[in-house]
Amino acid sequence: MAHETVFTYGAPALKFGPGAADEIGYDLTQYDVRRVLVVTDPGVAATGHPQRVAERIRSYGIEAVVFDLAHVEPTDESLRLAIDHARDTGPWDAFVAVGGGSAIDTAKAVNLLTTNPGDLLDYVNVPVGGGASPAHPLKPLVAVPTTTGTGSESTTICVLDVLEQKVKSGISHARLRPTLAVVDPRLTLTQPAGVTAAAGMDILCHALESYTARPYDSYEAKKPEERVPYCGSNPIADMWSERSMSLLAGSFRRAVRHGDDEDARGEMALAATFAGLGFGNAGVHIPHANAYPVAGRVRDFHPADYPPEEPMVPHGMAVALTAPEAFRFTFDAAPERHVHAADLLAPGALRPDDLRDLLPTVLRDLMRDVGMPNGLAAVGYDEGDVEDLVEGTMKQQRLLATAPRAVSAEDAAAILRASMSLW
Ligand SMILES: NC(=O)c1ccc[n+]([C@@H]2O[C@H](COP(=O)([O-])OP(=O)(O)OC[C@H]3O[C@@H](n4cnc5c(N)ncnc54)[C@H](O)[C@@H]3O)[C@@H](O)[C@H]2O)c1
Ligand SMILES: [Zn+2]
Repeated sequence: MAHETVFTYGAPALKFGPGAADEIGYDLTQYDVRRVLVVTDPGVAATGHPQRVAERIRSYGIEAVVFDLAHVEPTDESLRLAIDHARDTGPWDAFVAVGGGSAIDTAKAVNLLTTNPGDLLDYVNVPVGGGASPAHPLKPLVAVPTTTGTGSESTTICVLDVLEQKVKSGISHARLRPTLAVVDPRLTLTQPAGVTAAAGMDILCHALESYTARPYDSYEAKKPEERVPYCGSNPIADMWSERSMSLLAGSFRRAVRHGDDEDARGEMALAATFAGLGFGNAGVHIPHANAYPVAGRVRDFHPADYPPEEPMVPHGMAVALTAPEAFRFTFDAAPERHVHAADLLAPGALRPDDLRDLLPTVLRDLMRDVGMPNGLAAVGYDEGDVEDLVEGTMKQQRLLATAPRAVSAEDAAAILRASMSLW
């Protein structure tokens, strides 16, 4: 086989820093727009941030209307509702998403389906959906994260729960990437501790999974038209991931315990952005593949600080629960990377007899400190669910292809079983 020799790097324009969100009205004047839809969810709307952003936009003579019904962890149903609303009230010249991954991903879907024909599922990754590519360019999207987690403001991905198939999947295409990311750490000061913890574990897993992803030059050479946004670990993505892990080491516990610590919030916002710039190009693998069925098949778990109406395992929590065991499994593919990552996350951590234990131990200690549940059993799963969960994991072939080792159904089952209880 001819080995790949090329990797790619994509990123939105970025504005970072306290006060950046106050400048969005001016930023939008650069795109020649007259009507803008501001997309958010009810929890973020209650902080007043989206309304303040809309006011600033109006002060530049641009019409700004707030849509605040994005669903926390979007479903095909909630996205269709948002798309229908935007189609009924459009046409819109641009979209501004103010919120966490849920609001940003909702705005991506709205942007896609108000500029391109067809149904949402046509564009969802195979085998869950049709895997179609948008034929037409999208409108400008300004993404303004209020959580420190997903990095969705930088990525080409929209994640959704496909209700009838009981599985989470995504839409992934370069055209979905926001035009401009505006990261203002001040907006994250109101992020509740439970959300800070779960979203922070998402940052950590983005950085770790992209750092340990299968290297770009281990794949077969692609033709230019075959290139996908995720190309495996590479020197540029590695740099962002490493820096993100160092920032987390200094600020994650502090941001969860002291939400008003502006320095910690600022570092977490940088860590989330850096991890997004890394994984948005390298890709993620086993913990994210497991997270989709873990979140999608939830029965009766209600985490603190999330909307109480529906049971849910928040994305970052669902990712974290199998991470220690997943990184034990991937250790042999690149021992030095696993050890280096553990050193970045916990400088000076004691060396266990078996180095395979180092990263899982660092992760477990951190998870306990930030209040993650103790394994899959603590969110309601038992041995009897493993077969069902494995089926959901194996559907995420796009993610598993980025793992540094081939993952069989038996391997996935062993990781899930070992993740029932972590400490
Ligand atoms: N597109 C991507 O690249 C990508 C990557 C990872 C995850 N995701 C997806 O993103 C979603 C998760 O996003 P998230 O972790 O950012 O959380 P979220 O957007 O789901 O928000 C979580 C909760 O926190 C509240 N909240 C958010 N910011 C707040 C603030 N500043 N003050 C007060 N409350 C606030 C929200 O109202 C909500 O109740 C999932 O659907 C996940 O699958 C997307
Ligand atoms: Zn994630």
